Amino acid sequence: MNLQQQLIHTFVAQYGAAPALLARAPGRVNLIGEHTDYNDGFVLPMAIERAAWLALRPRDDDDVRLYALDFAETAVFSLAHLAKEAGWAEYIKGVIWALQQDGRTLRGFEGVLASDVPIGAGLSSSAAVEVVTARALAALNDLPWQPAQMARLCQRAENGWVGVNCGIMDQMISAAGQAGHALLIDCRALTWEAAPLPPQTAVVILDTATRRGLVDSAYNERRRQCETAAALLGVPALRDVSPAEFAAQEARLEPLTCRRARHVISENARTLAAATAMRAGDARQVGQLMNASHASLRDDFGVSSAALNTMVDLAQRQPGCYGARMTGAGFGGCAVALVQAQAATHFAQTVAAAYVQATGLQPQVIISQPAPGAEIMPPA
Ligand code: GLA
Repeated sequence: MNLQQQLIHTFVAQYGAAPALLARAPGRVNLIGEHTDYNDGFVLPMAIERAAWLALRPRDDDDVRLYALDFAETAVFSLAHLAKEAGWAEYIKGVIWALQQDGRTLRGFEGVLASDVPIGAGLSSSAAVEVVTARALAALNDLPWQPAQMARLCQRAENGWVGVNCGIMDQMISAAGQAGHALLIDCRALTWEAAPLPPQTAVVILDTATRRGLVDSAYNERRRQCETAAALLGVPALRDVSPAEFAAQEARLEPLTCRRARHVISENARTLAAATAMRAGDARQVGQLMNASHASLRDDFGVSSAALNTMVDLAQRQPGCYGARMTGAGFGGCAVALVQAQAATHFAQTVAAAYVQATGLQPQVIISQPAPGAEIMPPA
């Protein structure tokens, strides 16, 4: 049974009837454009073939009853009295809260949630749950599905309800992803352009099997450093400074702030260049930009880790690898590599074996094509 069939099977077992609707929303991997989204900059992520799924049917009252397949747990609450607790249901409550804040009146429902996006790996498992909730509730309540607006709303759920100060990238790509393509997203305008993967390439995601507890505080610290740099440079956000302008002004910043700003400003330029190279089918150029992105995240932005550096070094050394870098917030989680399609399986096996030997840790490897964004699925 695949995940979709399992979901429907569980729904019938829980509620005695088939669901009225079924939605899915993917996790993501970011190819390039890291720590740029909260600087109003550019990102180039793709949706992956791992997703959160939500099956539901309406109720006649204000109650919500949810079963999470992955935790074998039920959450029950009322739309009229949302209260913050801890656990997986907060992502769903957060989206309900944000929809209510937006003036929407929602119907009660019962549902089953399931996901095969690895949790805590930096592949946006929480954004997938938020966006699948928004997608399903939009359908259930006849709300228009506008990906950018819904992504903003899901980000508000994460910032305002869950309490994580993330940017907009993860929710945007989960809401707007396109099969076969990465999206160049302008995180200020909230517009995007599709960029196809170069021909004959594959994206390999290499999970270091390391997780860092302090990601949130380090992330917030980086955000503050970027804001400080923008204020000192006299611009609303680092997005507004070109590499040439920065070179002329960087002496005004103290060394640490200067390195943080240099990463963001150079990463925006690399991201735009990578999108152009993707459109030209130039895998070699995309790979070189990914390698440069990793060096910048490691040396200037200070968000890599020993495990990530090991994984990226091992990947970059393999034949058939165009480029590799850490992906996501950093400090642990995954690296991503662009490789020759016919070399992908061998590449994955070789890097995984070398990583086990170097670290004693067993990495997870996911090879994924770019998947579509959030959608309502026909009942299977
Ligand atoms: C996390 C956040 C994103 C983005 C990345 C870094 O994934 O959720 O908004 O800031 O880190 O690029």
